[in-house]
Amino acid sequence: MAFPTHRPRRLRQNPAFRRLVAEVRLHPAELILPVFIKEGAAEPIQITSMPGVVQHTEDSLKAAAAEAVELGLGGIMIFGVPEHHDALGSGAVDPDGVLNRAIASVKSEVGEGLVVMSDLCLDEFTDHGHCGVLTESGAVDNDATLEIYAQMGVAQAEAGADMVGPSGMMDGQVAVIRQALDEAGHQDTAILAYAAKYSSAFYGPFREAVDSQLSGDRKTYQMDPANRREAMLEVSLDLEEGADLVMVKPAMSYLDILRDVAEISDVPVSAYQISGEYAMIEAAAANGWIDRDKAIVESVLSIRRAGADSVLTYWAAELGRWIKEGRI
Ligand code: PBG
Repeated sequence: MAFPTHRPRRLRQNPAFRRLVAEVRLHPAELILPVFIKEGAAEPIQITSMPGVVQHTEDSLKAAAAEAVELGLGGIMIFGVPEHHDALGSGAVDPDGVLNRAIASVKSEVGEGLVVMSDLCLDEFTDHGHCGVLTESGAVDNDATLEIYAQMGVAQAEAGADMVGPSGMMDGQVAVIRQALDEAGHQDTAILAYAAKYSSAFYGPFREAVDSQLSGDRKTYQMDPANRREAMLEVSLDLEEGADLVMVKPAMSYLDILRDVAEISDVPVSAYQISGEYAMIEAAAANGWIDRDKAIVESVLSIRRAGADSVLTYWAAELGRWIKEGRI
């Protein structure tokens, strides 16, 4: 009988071998925790479609941020859920607005213990729910929106954000925000560009998380899931405009894009495992259809393997705990 010349199974024979040859492994420093702060909330509010995730009060947010430091996470990304909305999203540029106050409070809690990031987008603040302001005919006005993003970036930096995350997919947003930050003396505030952001059905649960007012869709500014070449263009433009990190979003349905971006980017690459990805695994696990913990680890590992240097995931703290306990 002829024996196989190659036996890849040799390196899989027991946990010690498998640990030795693992090509990627999870570390808390590469995990970023997205969090929601709800204006006027007396208690944290459960988000039904994201079991285990809440809209925080200022106090519960501080506690979550402190835990993130304790676990050694890389960063925290803050989203604001304001009480009042208007056509211009004015709460976004108000230093007393829910998000800017939350940035200040988290920053004072964590200091340099982790990187404090904030979502730089208008959809949480507008009464129509779009990521920008509208023209009279109801289209999203790119350049008028850029002016507000510039002010929003400065307000967030002034509140203490270490890194701002423009997620509205307006053309030229990174350049305009970079310039405004520099002019206001915030040269050290970094920009995490949501560079390749697709118009995705998997954002569904997020809309509940931020009490979204949107009717309609974001197809005139977010990318068509059919397109790969366009992602390369978006990423190149953001790099040219001065992005410090570039992100691909969503993650799991776009691992090919993530791999391609990792190959062309000369800055660190991030990926956002979004609300719908979280909800799918939680829902299947709640039904007993998949092993929750294994599915979580596998999903985040696959995002790292595809090329992400860091991952935004609602499981960041839980994964951090598992890593600390030596469970994974
Ligand atoms: C826009 C924004 C969205 C998400 C992050 N930033 C929603 C959207 O583009 O519709 C989605 C995050 C998630 O689904 O977890 N401010």
